[in-house]
Amino acid sequence: MLKVMTIFGTRPEAIKMAPVILELKRRPEFETVVTVTAQHREMLDQVLRLFDIKPDFDLNIMSPEQTLFDITTKALLGLEGVLSTVKPDIVLVHGDTTTTFVGALASFYNQITVGHVEAGLRTRNKYSPFPEEMNRRLTGSIADLNFAPTPTSRDNLLREGVEPAKIFVTGNTVIDALHRTVRNDFVFDDELLSSIDYDRKKIILVTTHRRENLGEPMRHVYEALKQLVEEFADVEIIFPVHKNPKVREIVDAVLGGLDRVHLIDPLDYEPFANLMGRATIILTDSGGVQEEAPALGKPVMVLRDTTERPEAVSAGTVKLIGTDRSRVYEETRRLLVDRKEYARMAEAINPYGDGRAAQRIVRALLRHYRLTDAPFEEFV
Ligand code: UD1
Ligand code: UDP
Repeated sequence: MLKVMTIFGTRPEAIKMAPVILELKRRPEFETVVTVTAQHREMLDQVLRLFDIKPDFDLNIMSPEQTLFDITTKALLGLEGVLSTVKPDIVLVHGDTTTTFVGALASFYNQITVGHVEAGLRTRNKYSPFPEEMNRRLTGSIADLNFAPTPTSRDNLLREGVEPAKIFVTGNTVIDALHRTVRNDFVFDDELLSSIDYDRKKIILVTTHRRENLGEPMRHVYEALKQLVEEFADVEIIFPVHKNPKVREIVDAVLGGLDRVHLIDPLDYEPFANLMGRATIILTDSGGVQEEAPALGKPVMVLRDTTERPEAVSAGTVKLIGTDRSRVYEETRRLLVDRKEYARMAEAINPYGDGRAAQRIVRALLRHYRLTDAPFEEFV
């Protein structure tokens, strides 16, 4: 049996790695070992519960207001022991967090093969998003197998000289997770979410957490939201606020106590994904939400200046609007009043996946280790 260890630590990594773990566990060829750094705690545990994943190793590294140095050093030292005990044949890491990079680095130090899931996304701006762009590039330099979600991400890797045979275009596993989770007949068990009249109200769903947006950029965004909710009586803002105290502080200062602004705790993935399906507009600086919302036909205003996910921007469902107060206000207002523009942006498209990414990743692994002759069919 091939020993595969997955290493992850934050909410989005868990959501996107879960379909891979479930697929690996279905196959007799693999022994699957799950290691979490727990760079996130509550937000990670929410996902582990939903997908019924019980980690074999939990480094439990999170501390309040942790720095990049805290995460990097604690995870690296914790992984040293785990990797030398388990000695996996291959480690899979996901995406662009500090856990991702450190998982790859620790594996390299132990000369263990590394597979990078969601490889090849690039903005080409070292500091945006920070530190994610460099985390991806550094992980990419170490990775032996690259699971690129889209042809665009494959092309980024090819341009950097990665051998074509080491790249597999798989689709993004986030669409696998979404397919398992969003249902037309979903009923919220939360009092607030079940009491909202989604047909009559205009729901603006908001998430923010990027390090480069902390401080003034976030304040500008929230001030724009305040102006919008005061102007439009039929707007309800639902804002599941990230656990980061640096985010919470600004949110509370600008939006706390306002009528029709619902500041709530991070939602479990199931209600959150179903809420996206019922929202009118989504404002976010999240990577994952940029991938999920287009599949649900929801216009997304991205509160960033760059994106490593250009596919939905080209398709017209996602718009990069940055964090300037008047721009956020104008662009969102336009979507609230201009039906044509809204209809244009609200067309469901699926540039990121077809729900079979995890199967492709597992098939690629089986081929790499010569455990199958079945052909690998790319996501197109
Ligand atoms: C991290 C990732 C980012 C990813 C994001 C997803 C890095 C450097 N950043 O950013 O790439 O997009 O996760 O959300 O890898 N906290 C809790 N409970 C939790 C989670 C966080 O209390 O369950 C608080 C803690 O005080 C923690 C702080 O949030 O110190 C920040 O967490 P951290 O992982 O450092 O940064 P994120 O902004 O979450
Ligand atoms: N998400 C969630 N609950 C919330 C907000 C977001 O489950 O309250 C999900 C969302 O659907 C997406 C992922 O978390 O799959 C995105 O995580 P985040 O924005 O924290 O990180 P990023 O994708 O930017 O790295």
